[in-house]
Amino acid sequence: MALWFMVGIICGLCFVCLSAELQRLEQPGKGDGSLSFLVVGDWGRRGSFNQSRVAFQMGKIGEKLDIDFVVSTGDNFYDNGLSSEHDTAFEESFTDVYTANSLQKQWYSGKNMTANSLSYAVLGNHDYRGDAEAQLSPLLRKIDSRWLCLRSFIVNAELAEIIFVDTTPFVNTYFLDPEDHTYDWRGVTPRKPYIANLLKDVESALRESTATWKIVVGHHAIRSVGHHGDTEELVSHLLPILKANNVDFYMNGHDHCLEHISDTDSRIQFLTSGAGSKAWRGDVKQLNREGLSFFYDGQGFMSVQLTQSDAEIVFYDVYGNILHRLNASKQFLHSSM
Ligand SMILES: *[C@@H]1O[C@H](CO)[C@@H](O)[C@H](O)[C@H]1NC(C)=O
Ligand SMILES: *[C@@H]1O[C@H](CO)[C@@H](O)[C@H](O)[C@H]1NC(C)=O
Ligand SMILES: *[C@@H]1O[C@H](CO)[C@@H](O)[C@H](O)[C@H]1NC(C)=O
Repeated sequence: MALWFMVGIICGLCFVCLSAELQRLEQPGKGDGSLSFLVVGDWGRRGSFNQSRVAFQMGKIGEKLDIDFVVSTGDNFYDNGLSSEHDTAFEESFTDVYTANSLQKQWYSGKNMTANSLSYAVLGNHDYRGDAEAQLSPLLRKIDSRWLCLRSFIVNAELAEIIFVDTTPFVNTYFLDPEDHTYDWRGVTPRKPYIANLLKDVESALRESTATWKIVVGHHAIRSVGHHGDTEELVSHLLPILKANNVDFYMNGHDHCLEHISDTDSRIQFLTSGAGSKAWRGDVKQLNREGLSFFYDGQGFMSVQLTQSDAEIVFYDVYGNILHRLNASKQFLHSSM
């Protein structure tokens, strides 16, 4: 599917590795001062559980909004990530699902984007149950050049700086009570310094950022009324850094729903887009509903459109219907539907 992977006018990616800091990728904008992208999470199920229907609508909305790229909030491949970089689930759940024939035609005739199209992904807890390093492998980019998954990194898209944070290592239960799951913690343990360094890098990246819009993406929610609820480890350790550095949006998956929650004492808007396939869990937490302005238990995705002064974020269902819209400006915040 065409448009969801489209990267406007792009001359390729520059990898600038600063020592011991997060990898920084340069994402050139469209040239008209705007930026738009789609956000989807928790999707890889070989097209089932409405994954293909969501993909189809993403193609339509992606074309309409002339998107620059797609963000995946993790849990890219179910149930247990990829078993290796040769796992055919990569093609079956990614390449084959987001490139239906009808969309292929639109894609090539309409936008003619191929090698430079990209989607940016982080790892979710299910991805860590397989060979986590396989998803980071450059080999996957050879199979499908749209794929770019790293643990934590920064996409500098001029207007916006998007910081991707590897949130799975923060969550205590995966280490203390993994039940019958095994997690691939290569590159993560020892856990304490891994988390400490990551927080330090996120903090300095945000502090130094001069972008108009500061966006942080992780797999786990900071705030959610869905099945998993708030992630206390992120509330304690990550949220204070985001508040102190005027982050506009925190975007995540993990709960298989769509949500918009406003922070009560900062400008941060918590946006869950984890509805890329299996949803309808029917399990809404009555606990902390503070700031909740939208919750949808079914499948769908989210679009983000940014200019220097305004942000418009829209949630869609499997039919492409608009469920909720959020407008933000540097002066005020406004939401409806
Ligand atoms: C697919 O989406 C439709 C419309 O929301 C819903 O009625 C149906 O239950 C969904 N199917 C699955 C397997 O979730
Ligand atoms: C895509 O662009 C190339 C180079 O600009 C052109 O030669 C080719 O015909 C285009 N393909 C389509 C399907 O538009
Ligand atoms: C958000 O802004 C768009 C145009 O940028 C406008 O069409 C829409 O009505 C606005 N929605 C709200 C809720 O203000």
